[in-house]
Amino acid sequence: MSSVATLRQRRQRLARHCDRPILLWSGARSPRNFPHNPYPFRASSHFLYFAGLSLERAAIRLEHGRAQLFCDAPSPDAALWHGETPSREELAEIAAVDAVYPWAELSDRLQDVATIAVQDAATCRHQSELLQRPISPHGLPMGIDLEAAQAVVMTRLTHDAAAVEEIRAAARTTIAAHLAGMAATTTATREYEVRAAMEYAIAQQHVTCAYPSIVTTHGEVLHSDRDDGVLQSDDLLLADVGAETRLGWAADVTRTWPVSGTFSATQRAVYDIVLAAHDKAIAAIAPGVEYRDIHLLAARVLAEGCVDLGILRGRPDELVERDAHALFFPHGIGHLLGLDVHDMEDLGDMAGYAPGRQRSDRFGLSYLRLHRPLQAGMVVTIEPGFYQVPALLRDPERQARYADVVNWDVLATFNDVRGIRIEDDVLVTPEGSEVLTVALPTEPAAIEAEVRRLNN
Ligand code: GLY
Ligand code: MN
Ligand code: MN
Repeated sequence: MSSVATLRQRRQRLARHCDRPILLWSGARSPRNFPHNPYPFRASSHFLYFAGLSLERAAIRLEHGRAQLFCDAPSPDAALWHGETPSREELAEIAAVDAVYPWAELSDRLQDVATIAVQDAATCRHQSELLQRPISPHGLPMGIDLEAAQAVVMTRLTHDAAAVEEIRAAARTTIAAHLAGMAATTTATREYEVRAAMEYAIAQQHVTCAYPSIVTTHGEVLHSDRDDGVLQSDDLLLADVGAETRLGWAADVTRTWPVSGTFSATQRAVYDIVLAAHDKAIAAIAPGVEYRDIHLLAARVLAEGCVDLGILRGRPDELVERDAHALFFPHGIGHLLGLDVHDMEDLGDMAGYAPGRQRSDRFGLSYLRLHRPLQAGMVVTIEPGFYQVPALLRDPERQARYADVVNWDVLATFNDVRGIRIEDDVLVTPEGSEVLTVALPTEPAAIEAEVRRLNN
């Protein structure tokens, strides 16, 4: 299907969920330290989804399947500094809209429009000024038009063929980046050298990272932003790195590998447990299956593995009921993936949680980002992990609560395992699932071979 047909179909699908006109802003560059030195521009995902092009300071008005684009022709000044850019008419053709208007005419076409807040503050102010009501990405569900947000969620929750092709492309680049990272490890001395090798592989495809890369020997810091650590030969290196295509579609992949190219016995034992949780979770994916049950299945496999290793005592089911597994696996099994790495999380839990469902306050469930029955066409991540987080394990309240189930002496023998995560991107299909990132090995022997490959 052509991109024009895809865009028109997306707008028709939206129209089935909402009668009101929906106006989606693309956003604007945020200044870094002064206005002419901005952060790179990335259009709002809702705009990208329906407009199919990354255009700054633009908006698309969608009503009954028809689309109008608002944007200005580039000023002579812009042409001086940034060169020639497409005319408004050319942009209208790429975006396959029914009409295009100058930016200033936006204010004439606001009757009854609903919108979704853009993340950058300047655009949000513009949205609020034009619509004469507070529009804010914070404090959900206040500050958003619920009806528009729900319609967009229903439209974007499952992916069309064009979107899946984009995610496949992001996955291919991401796999190349992880292989490059593995190959760079044995000759690197610092985490950032491996990160650079991975991001170089992404840049070589003329695309960007979908989120800040995590490349760390401290995998227990879940979203570590440090990458200056020295690589020690007995370390595990955790790399959570994903590419984003030029149209904004993301991949989100984690692998954990031994810096030396060989897992120690203790690292291998824990890795095998995380891999078992990963494999069993993926095997359970099918339309109609509750994602929360997949999370609980992975938790049970991890608990079982910890019992086998002597780290935990008790029956796995009961350990999961008591959230004891969350001492080592404190986050959810994954999330929706699409244009955003946590897709549509700008809308809080509206996309991730089925209507009427709310976050649990249970230790083992509170970070679950997706609580819906799976549907064919969704793409989700599966990313179990095992971490020794000092803030959790040294917390007196938790130590007391789990005193009868943790064998601290056995746990101490696994002190060369700080953090392991294995993360893949999975398309839910009518028959079950397809792992879009399957070409990147997860088996420990294959991982070791990749780390040792180019350098020995
Ligand atoms: N890369 C962030 C995540 O895995 O959720
Ligand atoms: Mn993820
Ligand atoms: Mn990730």
